[in-house]
Amino acid sequence: MQGHLTIAVRAARRAGDLIVRSMKSNRPVDVVSKEWNELVTEVDMRAEEDIKETIRRSYPDHAFLAEESGQSGDSDFVWIIDPLDGTTNFIHKFPIFAVSIALQVRGQLEVGVIYDPLRQELFTAVRGAGAHLDDRRIRVSGTTHLKDTLIGTGFPYRENVKHMDAYLAMLKTVVENVSGVRRPGAAAIDLAYVAAGRFDGFWELGLKPWDIAAGALLIQEAGGIISSVRGDSNYMETGHVIAGSPKIHQALSALLHPLLPATLKR
Ligand code: IPD
Ligand code: CA
Ligand code: CA
Repeated sequence: MQGHLTIAVRAARRAGDLIVRSMKSNRPVDVVSKEWNELVTEVDMRAEEDIKETIRRSYPDHAFLAEESGQSGDSDFVWIIDPLDGTTNFIHKFPIFAVSIALQVRGQLEVGVIYDPLRQELFTAVRGAGAHLDDRRIRVSGTTHLKDTLIGTGFPYRENVKHMDAYLAMLKTVVENVSGVRRPGAAAIDLAYVAAGRFDGFWELGLKPWDIAAGALLIQEAGGIISSVRGDSNYMETGHVIAGSPKIHQALSALLHPLLPATLKR
């Protein structure tokens, strides 16, 4: 899978450079779709096309599941792409966003790359070969007590606003039981930070496969656990996610589980 990783890294770096050039150019960003909390810019579209083109040059037969262009192709090899995770941040020049690229082979995540182009931090994982930040091996946090943890989260939007009351109850409990809670605004960064031990844990309701795929492999390869909020491995399908080191994943699950509405327990 090292060859696939090399291509994913090339694609992520190219897209990241394109995003940063666009941000620094000071040209007004053309917002293509302005649905509430579903902003898409021409930069998201251009970055996605560039990533797909880079991958196609090496793997013309592979399939894609990409945020802006959806599903295409028919292959055992599926590239799952979020070309710009954190679009709202990007539009506001709030400096937290990333490119996320994963490769799934016959339904199993094999390669994951998350690239933060402003800090030039490259998070990579290959199944069975560990997780890395640049050239250094990363591990999930060793914090053992919930009260000492820094926890990441994201707010529910769109069809998930129906879970808002349950989410706010979860947020209250977490704030009351941990050292700090952060909402950076880019799920791929949140998951990469769990893998790197910067966050001890994370939860969010209503993510999409392209928000999760690369980060999930990073966390697993860094010795952590990612699951759906009810504890099964269906997190890519439900998008309702809890992640962390094994200890903190367990503690956070125990805290959140009683607050799950019946619809999320099923
Ligand atoms: C969003 C970010 C955000 C999360 C949203 C996602 P986008 O992705 O990851 O942190 O809370 O659910 O949609 O739209 O910026 O790629
Ligand atoms: Ca996203
Ligand atoms: Ca996106």
